This record gives sequence, structure tokens and C-alpha cells, in this order.
Amino acid sequence: MIHTRISGTGSYLPGEPISNDTLIAAHKLDSSNDWIIERTGIRQRHLAPVNVASSDLALEASRRAIEAAGISAADIDLVVVATSTPDYIFPSTAALLQHKLGITNGAPAFDVQAVCSGFVYALSIADKFIRSGSHKRALVVGAEVFSRILDWKDRGTCVLFGDGAGAVVLEACDAPGILATALHADGSHHGILSVPGHVCGGTVIGDPLLRMDGQAVFKFAVRVLAEVAHEVLDAAKLTAEQIDWLIPHQANVRILAATAKKLGIPAEKCIVTVENHGNTSAASIPLALDESVRAGRVKRGQTLLLEGVGGGFTWGAALLKF
Ligand code: ACO
Repeated sequence: MIHTRISGTGSYLPGEPISNDTLIAAHKLDSSNDWIIERTGIRQRHLAPVNVASSDLALEASRRAIEAAGISAADIDLVVVATSTPDYIFPSTAALLQHKLGITNGAPAFDVQAVCSGFVYALSIADKFIRSGSHKRALVVGAEVFSRILDWKDRGTCVLFGDGAGAVVLEACDAPGILATALHADGSHHGILSVPGHVCGGTVIGDPLLRMDGQAVFKFAVRVLAEVAHEVLDAAKLTAEQIDWLIPHQANVRILAATAKKLGIPAEKCIVTVENHGNTSAASIPLALDESVRAGRVKRGQTLLLEGVGGGFTWGAALLKF
């Protein structure tokens, strides 16, 4: 039987960190460092220069993941990029990344759009490709430049997000690896978190910036993150006590704490990196994973529970032996 394992991780944050105070001053926001830290845990974020696109951030994160996996880019036979802030309407950011990495073997490349759940969606899709036997080495990336879709006059959203990328190399192997994945969506909640505009005939129709009902998102996120965690634990016949690390989408420390508590997972086992980079949407889970691997916290053989929730609404989880 073919299984899938993560053989390397990488991540990238553009430029210097921007503190809450710097952001507040730059955009003349009626806010404070204390308010942002108390309500979200966020202390700083990284913002990409205007000439830097998601594929550029993805490229740096991918190079690091490929190096960590001990392979070369030419060995990759599938490229999946999770992003809601693609370089172009088309072609996909994955196709651009494939080219920038110099992959010329015709490996399929496509984007997955599930907002903050995007990385878990992409990981689950790539896992299925590998377990089917059709592909052997997948590059799975979450990359975002959310700074491009923020309303800098809306203090309720612009302080929350940042830019960045995270990547993993997935490889076919004899033993698991990825133990269980679960994906869900309920489009009836599209209105509580969306960028509702679109381009038509060269003109933006509607509102092209991120809009959110923060409290509705908060409640929805905590509920489904607990549900989907139980779903993958049940599928793999494991209990929450057997998890070494919970690595949730990094949106807000209060969502992370409430989710861990609901699952009965001690706070010390929940990876929290949101204070350093804000909410980087599809990039946040692989960023948190890579940072923890490189810090020596997440180790080979440990059991990890990755889970995300985002606009759509979408949500999902992946349970794996690292
Ligand atoms: N600085 C100061 N005051 C602010 C700010 C700010 N940056 N933002 C909002 N406020 C004000 C509001 O205007 C409101 O003022 P009012 O009472 O005069 O009307 C007051 O603070 C309270 O606002 P609430 O929305 O009730 O504040 P809340 O405690 O819910 O915190 C927050 C807001 C942080 C957005 C919270 O709802 C939240 O974290 N929600 C989850 C949203 C999230 O993480 N989204 C990420 C995308 S989705 C995802 O990744 C799953």
C-alpha cells in the first residue's frame, strides 16, 4: 500500500517585520498596540513590496522545502499552490512557480482556492494523488499577499493579516505518513468573510477588498475546528491525548486557545506563531509547521494535527506522523 509523508518543510516571510505601532502610524488607524495584542495576539506582520507576488514568496519557501527534503526541483512531479491572492487571474500561481523553479518535466501544476483552509485542502488533494500511485513527489505550497486586498481604513480587518508562504514536499513511502484527512465547505456562510468584487471588461465591479463579520467568523471557526479534529482522530482511531502537536490555522490566539481547550489539548501542545506574522491565510499552517520544525520543537515520528478554517466557509484537517 502506498502512503504519503512530509519529507521537507520550508517557509518565507518578506522584508522586515512591521510592528502594530508602525502599522497604526502608517495608516492613521484609531487603534492601539494593546488592543491588537489583547484581542488577537498579533504583535507584527510582514508585508510584501508591490513588485513581489505570491509566486515569489512561494519560490523562496519551496526552495527551502526542497533543500530540506534532500531532493532537487526536477524530482517534483506535482505542484499544488493554495492561494486566494494569485499573481494573475490566470495562469495559475502554481504554473508560474513551476517555471520559476525550473521544473521542465511537465509536472501538473494547479491552484487551490479555499482561503485559510487552502493548505489543508492542497495537502489532502496531493496525498490522494500520491496514494493513487499516479505521482511520487508533490510540492504543496500556501502563499499569500493579503496586503493587496485589505482596506487600510478598516481597523477591524487590516491589523489582522500579513504576507508569507510555507511549503512542504510530500513523498510516496511504505509507512504512514498522512493518517487521515477531512475537508468540508458550506457556501451559505459566504457573506461573513469575503472579497465580493470581480473584474469585468477591465473594471472592478463591486468591492475588491476583504470584508468580515469578526464575531461570526470567530464562533464558526471554533466550532468547526473542534468538529473536524474529532473527525480525523476517529478516522485514524486516535485520541486527542495522542497528539504531540496541534498546528491550527494561525488567525487569532483566542481562536487557537478556544479550539485547544474544546479538544482537551493542553495549550503547550498548540503551536502558536500568529504573534510574529499575523494571519497569512493559506500560508499560515505550513509557516507554523516549518518554524516549529526548524526550532526543533516538531520532531520526526511525532503525531501532528493540522487544521484550517476560512472563507467559503471551508474547513479541514490532516492528521499525520511527521
Ligand atoms: N482597534 C481598536 N478597536 C477596534 C479595532 C482595532 N483594530 N477593531 C475593531 N475595534 C472596535 C470595534 O469597532 C468595536 O467598537 P465599538 O464597540 O465602538 O463598535 C470594538 O472594537 C469591539 O469590536 P468587536 O468586533 O466586538 O471586537 P472583538 O472582540 O470581536 O474582536 C476581532 C474583533 C479581533 C476581529 C475578533 O472578532 C476576531 O478575532 N474574529 C475572528 C476573525 C478572524 O480571525 N478572521 C481571520 C480571517 S478568518 C480565518 O482566518 C478563519
